[in-house]
Amino acid sequence: MSFDLVLFGGTGDLTWRKLMPALFQAFRHGTLPEGARIIGVGRDKLSNDEYRDLIKTRFEKVDLAKRPSADEFARFAAILEFLSMDLSKPGDYAALAATLNARGADSVVMYVATAPALFTTVCEQLGASGLNTPKTRVVLEKPLGNDLASNRNINATVRRFFEEKQVFRIDHYLGKPAVQNLFALRFGNALFEPLWRREHIANIQITIAEDLGVESRGAFYETTGALRDMVQNHALQLLCAIGMEPPINSHADAIRDEKLKVLRSLKPWTRETLTQDVVRGQYASGTINGTKVPGYREEAGVNPASNTETFVALRTEIANWRWAGVPFYIRTGKRLAGRDARIVVNFRPTPHAIFNSNVGMANSLVINLQPKDGLELHLLAQGQANRKASQSLAPVQLDLDFDKRFGSERVGAYERLLLDVIDGRLNLFVRSDEQEEAWRWVEPMLDYWAVDAQGPRLYAAGTWGPSASSAMIARDGFCWSEEA
Ligand code: BG6
Repeated sequence: MSFDLVLFGGTGDLTWRKLMPALFQAFRHGTLPEGARIIGVGRDKLSNDEYRDLIKTRFEKVDLAKRPSADEFARFAAILEFLSMDLSKPGDYAALAATLNARGADSVVMYVATAPALFTTVCEQLGASGLNTPKTRVVLEKPLGNDLASNRNINATVRRFFEEKQVFRIDHYLGKPAVQNLFALRFGNALFEPLWRREHIANIQITIAEDLGVESRGAFYETTGALRDMVQNHALQLLCAIGMEPPINSHADAIRDEKLKVLRSLKPWTRETLTQDVVRGQYASGTINGTKVPGYREEAGVNPASNTETFVALRTEIANWRWAGVPFYIRTGKRLAGRDARIVVNFRPTPHAIFNSNVGMANSLVINLQPKDGLELHLLAQGQANRKASQSLAPVQLDLDFDKRFGSERVGAYERLLLDVIDGRLNLFVRSDEQEEAWRWVEPMLDYWAVDAQGPRLYAAGTWGPSASSAMIARDGFCWSEEA
């Protein structure tokens, strides 16, 4: 099968950091179909060789184990081409059409990794140049819009030129091995299903913590913030994966129907919950790994009086039979104490305590997404350390480290998703109605913040965010997992 992959944004940050390394790994592992051609598209005037050289230089920055040898790179470079285009100029699409039509590949993937403002133009111009054929798939990177209206507008435009089954909306968290293992844990094993409900679960915590700041993306982040950047998509997709009902089969729409139901069941916001159950924060200067780092307002491209949030913690509920009354806490932020993404399922305590123990983290299941990818089951056991107090139990854990079990050379998120696009598998992509529902749910927070004079609460870089985040969860009698 021959196929062309057109990378709009072919000289952009995402291409360098994620897409090219992922494509190279697929090429190295022999999973990229033979007959592949990758066409990077950008405004720069580059020859094919200049583009290949640029990629080679970038590859020198990736992990040693993932770096190509000279021979491997030469073979990979042979499938790379570059096309200079101004995506806002209709005339420039003729050259793309000529390049694609000359080869007439069996399938074509248009990966739109550009500024979101260009999404609709690109789709319209692909349509106008006759490049929206049935053999074409279009991949849209996040953020897809800035609010519900803009998201709907993009989806409506895309729909004019492509059928839903041709559209692959990326949320790279769905490609992470840990998320796929969460589906396997829940729907491939019967063990947890009877416990997976309000009768047995006290609360669920979703944390996506980063120690990085906004890096070179200050200007982008100013108009985005953590709610749009992480909660509307990644965190809500994790919430869906943990909270959804078992789908009737493994087809894309069966899975997406169930995720949509979760989003529709999220408790609507009220004035009271908006003030009590949502904490927005912004990092001030602090220390990360022993190094002093500046505050958000001192970052390049950021307004020194900015109110953009770099941290969000919130409490919600899924209002249905399975979950009524169980708090789901979401927390994400930049410049936090470490890079740590995990979901913690805290089970209810024993109905009657016969041991004199501090439960701590026990009685919980932890799904680690990163930096470690694995499962931990925290239990209480009779340790040997304290011979006298024989009735006091100690926390222990059953630990499944997926890297150790399956090897660390497993398929990365972008590699997985790119291969799925090429194969036409939509399971791990977001349908337009899911996306719209997620926007509908986050919008009241955006509206409230727009008029809330208080602004974000500052937190020192290198901490777990504003203390209000711990206070929010403490109101329910719980604490974040690292405080347990
Ligand atoms: C992206 C956000 O979607 O996800 C970034 O735009 C964030 O701000 C990144 O850093 C986090 O991804 P990961 O895979 O490193 O956790």
